[in-house]
Amino acid sequence: MTNVRTPLRIGGSLVRNRLYRAPVLEGAGSGPDAAEIYARHFVENATAGVGLIIQGSSCVLEEGRTSPGMTVVANRRQVMELSPMVRAVQQAGASIFLQLGHGGIFAMEAWHEPYASARKGPLLAASPVPWLLKPAFRGVPVHVLTTDEVRDLARRFGDVAAWAREAGYDGVQLGSANAKLLDQFLSPFFNHRRDEFGGTLRNRARLLELIRAEVAARAGADYPCAVKVPCEKSPPLTARTSPAEALELCRLVEEFGFDAVTPVHVSVFPDTTLSRGGVPRSFWTNRSMRDRLRRAAPSRRRRTAILAGSWLGGKQAAFRPVWNRDLFSAAKRQVSIPVFAVGGIRTAEEVTTILQEGEADMVGIGRPFYAEPDLAARILDGDPGPRLCRSSNLCVPAQMLGMKGICYNPEVRRARATTGGSAR
Ligand SMILES: Cc1cc2nc3c(=O)[nH]c(=O)nc-3n(C[C@H](O)[C@H](O)[C@H](O)COP(=O)(O)O)c2cc1C
Repeated sequence: MTNVRTPLRIGGSLVRNRLYRAPVLEGAGSGPDAAEIYARHFVENATAGVGLIIQGSSCVLEEGRTSPGMTVVANRRQVMELSPMVRAVQQAGASIFLQLGHGGIFAMEAWHEPYASARKGPLLAASPVPWLLKPAFRGVPVHVLTTDEVRDLARRFGDVAAWAREAGYDGVQLGSANAKLLDQFLSPFFNHRRDEFGGTLRNRARLLELIRAEVAARAGADYPCAVKVPCEKSPPLTARTSPAEALELCRLVEEFGFDAVTPVHVSVFPDTTLSRGGVPRSFWTNRSMRDRLRRAAPSRRRRTAILAGSWLGGKQAAFRPVWNRDLFSAAKRQVSIPVFAVGGIRTAEEVTTILQEGEADMVGIGRPFYAEPDLAARILDGDPGPRLCRSSNLCVPAQMLGMKGICYNPEVRRARATTGGSAR
């Protein structure tokens, strides 16, 4: 029977066990110390026994990051500079995938003033900004990608995957279920194209198919390429990717040749639905956060839109243990490629149940790795928990504003100081 220590083959890669660190931004940026910052997080995770680390989303173009600390992987040099970290993680026994993405209309150049005023090109979009969002995008230049440009974009993903392979990464994952550019192509809320990339679900998924083919052509057919699949929430009377469509997408990505799939519930807005639990009050009450937000978004209208969106998102998606279970277990019944579980998984018992009941093949944990870098050892040893992470999302506005990807919850820090890692 499968347990957390059972190795798993993902495409051409063998992962030593079934526990992965889900992609959460590390705020390492793209400076000369990026590899060192990543290594500081990941080597400790690997030493504690995690099977696979999925590095947080990195941007395939020079512009289009969603936060200032996001790493840019727009050329070979930028990717190769990360290779000492990749080697260090592997020497500690773990595998590491690089997540590739782009913010699309939610790139920080849309709202983060220092980056918006220095922006070199318009925001990239699948279609014109939906009418509901138009007030928040007044004065922001948006370019709808032409059919040829979509094809170029797919080639760029292929190129970055080839550089990732050269840098030693064990595989890549597409950041395609977080309301960002790839998701904006998949989603009928955003995508109103009339070419081969719009209309039916099959057409909206064509960009993923093209990217998969480009990754195989440029990085090698055996190079693991995983993908996330969204099941969306959207405002009443607007279009979205429904649960049935999300499952059909899981089937399609298998047909396209992806090596693993992670289905998740998300909002069409870049709010906290992806991590649930709402946005902490400190986003608007803490003076240092407030000042940072004011510098990022000096316009009151924009600040209000950001705060209102965050507040509403939090209200609509409260934390629930293992909240994606319905999706990943349904996907597991639908496809034969490995299915990755993620979302509110905290205890060794939850991990064991998911694997033993055959609900997923890999189990991911995100935010708790900020609070307990050696978390994998506890999960692998069957520690009953509870976890130090309070799922307070204090890490979310921090990374939006360019701060490091760490736990900002003072309660957790205090608990860590007294217990050395365990919440008990
Ligand atoms: C600060 C933060 C950054 C995140 N960054 C990414 C990302 O870059 N790519 C992605 O696919 N998911 C991202 N996520 C979502 C996580 O991978 C994960 O799905 C989510 O946090 C739920 O898992 P958890 O309850 O174990 O934290 C992020 C979540 C947080 C809180």
